[in-house]
Formats: sequence, structure tokens, C-alpha cells
Amino acid sequence: MPLLRQALGFAQLALVAAWNSKATQEDFYTFQEFYTDAQYGPDFGYYSTGRILHGGASQEDPTGAAYFNSYTTQPMSLSPFFGQLLCDRVVSMWISMGRPAPFFLMEFGGGTGMLARDILRHGRNAHEEFFAAARYVIGERSPALQAAQRQTAAEFVPSKLLVVDADARSASKVRQHLKVAVVRGVVLSNELLDEFDPVRLRLSWAGASPDQGRCKQCAAFREAHVLHRIDERALAQLLRRSEEAQVLGEAIRWEAKSLPCGLLDTQLLQRQVVERLSAALSTEELRRCSPMQLCCAALLLAVDGLMQDDHSSLQLGKLAASDQLLRRYRQQVARTNGTLLLSKHRYRQLRRLALQEGLGFEQELLMGSFGRFYSDEVYFALSPSRCRELGPWRNRHAARLAAAAKLRGATAPVYDRRNLGSTLQLKILVQPGHAEFVQEASALVDEGFMISMDYGADADALLWQALVHPNHEGIHIMDAREATSQCSSSYLACPGLQDITMTVDFTEAAEAGEAAGWRTAAYAPIFQLELAQEDEHLPPLASLLERAGGPRSVGLHAWYRHSGADAWASFKVLVQYRGVKRWSLGSSSLSWPLRKVPALAEAPDECWSNDLSKPALAALVARSVDLGSSFQKLLEDLRAMQEAAELQYAWQRQAYRDLHLAQLLADYWLYFARAGPRESCLAPSADLRAAWLQQVRSVAVARRLPEMHGEVMFNRVFSALAGNHTPPAEPYECLVSQMIASFC
Ligand SMILES: *[C@@H]1O[C@H](CO)[C@@H](O)[C@H](O)[C@H]1NC(C)=O
Repeated sequence: MPLLRQALGFAQLALVAAWNSKATQEDFYTFQEFYTDAQYGPDFGYYSTGRILHGGASQEDPTGAAYFNSYTTQPMSLSPFFGQLLCDRVVSMWISMGRPAPFFLMEFGGGTGMLARDILRHGRNAHEEFFAAARYVIGERSPALQAAQRQTAAEFVPSKLLVVDADARSASKVRQHLKVAVVRGVVLSNELLDEFDPVRLRLSWAGASPDQGRCKQCAAFREAHVLHRIDERALAQLLRRSEEAQVLGEAIRWEAKSLPCGLLDTQLLQRQVVERLSAALSTEELRRCSPMQLCCAALLLAVDGLMQDDHSSLQLGKLAASDQLLRRYRQQVARTNGTLLLSKHRYRQLRRLALQEGLGFEQELLMGSFGRFYSDEVYFALSPSRCRELGPWRNRHAARLAAAAKLRGATAPVYDRRNLGSTLQLKILVQPGHAEFVQEASALVDEGFMISMDYGADADALLWQALVHPNHEGIHIMDAREATSQCSSSYLACPGLQDITMTVDFTEAAEAGEAAGWRTAAYAPIFQLELAQEDEHLPPLASLLERAGGPRSVGLHAWYRHSGADAWASFKVLVQYRGVKRWSLGSSSLSWPLRKVPALAEAPDECWSNDLSKPALAALVARSVDLGSSFQKLLEDLRAMQEAAELQYAWQRQAYRDLHLAQLLADYWLYFARAGPRESCLAPSADLRAAWLQQVRSVAVARRLPEMHGEVMFNRVFSALAGNHTPPAEPYECLVSQMIASFC
């Protein structure tokens, strides 16, 4: 404590405590709670109200139109081929474990049950012995989705498929349904990790950037909270049918004035800030929120706004002396005029009332034709329980955060023209669910694997995103519906009407896994699942294209051509294992960077000197030795920087496609080359080489790869691979030559 006091200053501590006035703070949403309510809460949650399912879905007909509203996950757009691919991989894991029976496949976030059905069907058709041993269990919390899963995979219920009430955060609950002493199997999840409720943090500092030690301390961080307001007109609409409208209305009005004062309620604050402000205000202004001396909600927002710009304004003397505060207070009074601040309890209550009136009414209420809800984010110091909860996370990431903060400190003066000494911050998203899930999974599985598939990146890349896009929040809104298109302006705009997701931090999933007894086997773009040659249990040409008999569906085109995705945050697979011997997803040299030790300022390894694992601008900056001056040089000519970043982005998208094609061609190559002795595979004669290349080309043409990618791209990649450049010009040449070397 003495240390903390020194670092912060006594007065500041008092205000930090004021921000944390615990009883009151719990009346308002942390961003995490808000997210949970918006996605899964009973009152308006996107999933729990069934809005994740398209229009027709209901309790009676849970599959409705049988597809998801917000996004098309891979197994759906690629059904049944993706399930087949995954099934073959799981069979290979099962064989590597000595074919145990029973063998459990335990899926979380099972959606409509399509992946389960496709995997089980393929098991039944192609792997008789495996199928006999297999038991599929879906842990699902939503009754609507449970029903959908039972219906989609009805042919396997109950002999092969069990749907139980559990979710990923309580995954070990599934164990009681398995009725075996030792659980052997695979924990599967697809697009689940991105759905874990996020804690939004800011690492703020003024002056020297926080070092590793500082990044382990809670005091270095502040956490986002969400404050909701409703305007009087909307409240009147909502309460118009309630018998207790008047009582309720008055209670809400009183709370709106009094509760936020609890957040500011300290003697110091009273004396120094409130009194000084009060003295400056007119009688008229002083009457606005009577009997309160000031409008506490407005003051709260004003102080928070001030702190965003000037961290040191937290010191009370400075705060009290600040004319800024008076100006901001007046702005906030005008801005919040006619609206009432709501506790989370009241917000839920009002959303329940709205839900009863139907989706149309809710949309009006959120988008404003008769008045509406408003939301603000404010940042408070970490509560003691949050501080404890994130301890292991801080330890895992402190070095990385300190490195990123240092970079931010070095580049901010040029990048966002901040004065030296002004407050700087890094926006950080933490999903504590990753650590909980791997812990629960390790209590569930004694021997086996964990396969997690999702859009995501390594922690270095995610921090780079925060560095080069300081205004980016890292949150994505997913909803295809026309009616809610106005909501897309902000993730705070339409809670419950849209899906909110995050880009997964796979480093955290892997490192938290290591702490829970899992080891990391592989991390790569999902298309690495297609490579067959290193896995004797897969069909020799295992690609989706092969299974589908050519590029016949929109889903397949998207899979190979990667339309619309950022390469660095692409769809990935992470394989972890415990209690069994390592199993390989493919050449470890094909794995993407997933470093425990941060490597912000260097290429991850020799194949990545031009890096597609980082955001485009980050890859440009990181290429240079001196990051600060490299940034500065880029910034001297903004247009040139923009052009360079756009070129890099275009290159990355193409490089990602090239890599997928190159891996496929290399897989074909190995199919022919591995038929003979290893020496000739590694160093074939010119004749052999020409013959294999000819065969690879004719397989590729038969599978219509040139047609799908265009002759130009196909020929370019094919000749580069055939040409054996030294040194390799593109990452795919480098990666694929390592792949061939290790699998010949
Ligand atoms: C608040 O709104 C009312 C009604 O629209 C208006 O008369 C009043 O001037 C506003 N007050 C402030 C401080 O903006």
C-alpha cells in the first residue's frame, strides 16, 4: 500500500476510491455484465430470446428456417464436407491414443447441431470402429438451441448424441453425464471463443510508459462500465400500460438523480470539487437537479471525459482548479437534459417491459422514433474482485503490455500528434472465459484433445491493432437484418438485437491452457485441416474440394478465395492436448506465430519477414529496426503512408490466398513424391520432378483450381513453387518448402 500511495498520490487514491464506492458501483453495468445481458440475459439477450435464429424459430419449431441470423459459420456453409474433414482428424487423434472406447466428442457452442450431425454421419459411413466407440455430447445452455440440436441430429438421439444443460464456463458439469472413471476424448468448439464476455480495460499513463512490474498492478488499469439513460418521452411510452406507472416513474426519476451521486460521494470531492463548481454556477443551474447540489450524472461524465484526456486530472487539486471541468459539466448537463440515468436493475426492468411489446417496439425504443435509450461508457478503477480475477492474465501478458506501451509512448507524438506528457492509453479486451474454459475442460477431460476454431490472432497482432488503430475497440457487430441496420453504428446501440463478437486472442487461450495442464499442438489458419500427407489416417487427398467433387458451392468458393477476411485475424484452429502424446496437425513449420515471449518489433521467424500475421500498417512499421523513426518517416507523408498500407493490405489478402493454394499444391506434390523413397522425395531427378509437377498440375486442373483462382494466379503460384527460388520471395514459398522437407 505505501508503494501505491507514493505512485498515485494520496488525493488521487481518495478519488479512485470514490469511483469505486462499491455499493453504488454495483448498481451499474460493467461492460462485461452489459455484454452478458445483451447476448444471454433473460430480459433481452440476443441468444436467450431466440433472435440468433432466423424469424421462423420458436419453441415449437426451434429450427425455424434452420439457419442462423447473424453469421454463417463454416460447418453450415460447408456442410457436410467440413464435418467430414474434422471427423477424419478426430479419428486420427483417436487412433493416436490407441483407439479407446468409449471416446467422447464434447462440443460447446454447438449452434443448430449441424456439425455434430455431419461428424456423426461421416463416422457412421467411413469409420465403423470409431463410430462404435464414439459418444457425442453437446453442452448447451439455451433451451431453443438444445431443441434445435436434437432435431437436426435426431437420427443419433439418444444412442450416439446427448444434449445436456451446460455451457463452456461450466464444461466440467458434463462429466457427470459420461459415467466413466477416466474421460478420453476431444473438446470441440467452433466460433465459441469469440462469444466469451469481454472485460474492456484501459492501460493509462502519463509520462514514462508503465514497465512490466507496473503492468502487473491493478492500479495501472481502468475498466469500462456502461451507463444507460432513457428520455422522458420513451419512459412515458414504456410505462403507458403499467398500472404502477406513476410510482415507477417517480422511483426512476429519484434514482436517476441520487444513485450517480453515490459514485462521487466522498468528503474530499464534496469539499473541493462540488463546492467550487457550485460557486461558479447560476441559481438556475443549481436548481436543475435539486435537491442534489449538482447533476451527478453530468458531473460523472464530465470527470470521466476529462480523465480520458488528462490522466493526472484525477488529482483533486487539479480537478477542482480546472475550468475544463466547468465547461464539460455544462456540456454534459445539456447533453443529458431530459434523460434519466438508469441502474442496471432498472434497465433490465424496462427492457422486459419493452420485450412484452414485441420486436417492433424494441427497435423503435432503441433507434428512437418516440424517444429512446442512450448509453455512455465510463472508466472506473478495477474492483478488488476484478483485480484478483485478472491476476493470472496480468502475469501472462505484463511483458507484452509493457512493450506495447513503450511503443505507444514512442510513436504517439508523431502518430496522433499528442504532446509529450499527455495521457496515453492502450485499449485492451480480455475474455476471462478463455481461462475458465480451458480449466473446466481440463477437469472434464483426462486424456485427449481440445480443438478450438474461431476468428482470431495472436496477442502481439492484437496489441498491434490497438497501437496502429488507437480508436478501434476490437468489437464486431454481426447481424444481417435490414431492420437493425441503423444499429451498426455502435455496439452499444442495440443490445439484444445484434450479435456482438470479439477477435479471439489465441495466445491467451494457449497460455491459459498451459497453466491448466494443456499443451499446444498447433495453431494455424483453419485450412491447414485439409492437409493430408502427414496423416496416414486421412484419405490421401483430403481437401474440401476433393470431398465436394469440385468448387460447386458459394461456401467452397469463399473457403478457397477468402473473400472479405483480414488475413491476420482469419479463421484459425488451435489444437491442445493433455495426457496423451503429441499429435500433429501438420508440419509445425506451418504453424503461425504464437509466441509466449512478445515479439512486437521483429519478424516472428525467417518465413515471415513480410508479415501477414499482423495488421497491414503494423507489418509495415515492424519491418524496420527503429520503430519510432520508421513510424515517423511513414507519417511525414500521410498519403504515402496510406498508399503503402493499402498496398500491404492488398498483398496480405493475396498472400493468404496464395498460401492456401500453395499448401494444397504441396499436398498434391507430396502425394506423388512420397510414393517413392525418401531420398528421391527430397531430391528428385529432373525427370521425376517434371513428371510429378505434371501430375500435380493435372490433379489441380481436374479439381478446377485454375478456374477458381484464375489462370494468372494459379500459374504464378505454381511456377514459384516449381522454380525453387532461393531465398524464397513469398511466405508461402518458404513455408511450403519447410513442409515438403519435413514430410518427404
Ligand atoms: C433542457 O430542455 C428543455 C426542454 O427541451 C429546454 O427548455 C432547456 O433549456 C434545456 N436545458 C438545458 C440546460 O439544455
